[in-house]
Amino acid sequence: MKFFSLSIAAVLQLAIATGVVHAAPAPDNGVTGLVISHIVPVGEYNMTYWVDAPGTSTVAARALSARACGTNDVTCSGSFLADTDICSQLVNSLNTGISIGNSPRSICLGQSNNQCCTSWSGAVGTMPESDLVNAAINIFNACWSPTDGSGLARNVLLNNICVTQCLSNRPDGCTN
Ligand SMILES: *[C@@H]1O[C@H](CO)[C@@H](O)[C@H](O)[C@H]1NC(C)=O
Repeated sequence: MKFFSLSIAAVLQLAIATGVVHAAPAPDNGVTGLVISHIVPVGEYNMTYWVDAPGTSTVAARALSARACGTNDVTCSGSFLADTDICSQLVNSLNTGISIGNSPRSICLGQSNNQCCTSWSGAVGTMPESDLVNAAINIFNACWSPTDGSGLARNVLLNNICVTQCLSNRPDGCTN
């Protein structure tokens, strides 16, 4: 045990000495690992499309295997709550026929102090925006009160890739 503790301390010291522990600078608007791809006006709000920052490696999206995917298993969260009205508008706005390129990682409606975002666990390439609708509705229906909510769904099929999709007040996920 003592040897183990000393080893950890030694590793930490080395990491600090070499600067490994320094936090990476946030590339854009304080959102770690993401940058804005483009913004389009939707109703009274802006819809912002976020993509991986250059040089940022996302967790590789799992290839679709033989196991079940598309079950959209919802877990609600008490963190990163997003407003009910704006989330409702986001969910409705996703059901367009458009295909979103540039391999986005999340889409937000509103602005940083009042926004609802859906994000997913890895880049899946170009996909129909409507791929995002089913799980977003499942999460919204299960987790939102009349004022706000937050949650995620596991086993969501986006562009034929199995991911976790989130609905919350931030573009970079709802679990940490
Ligand atoms: C939408 O974004 C543009 C910049 O892309 C900005 O000038 C405008 O104020 C924004 N509108 C809202 C409602 O946030």
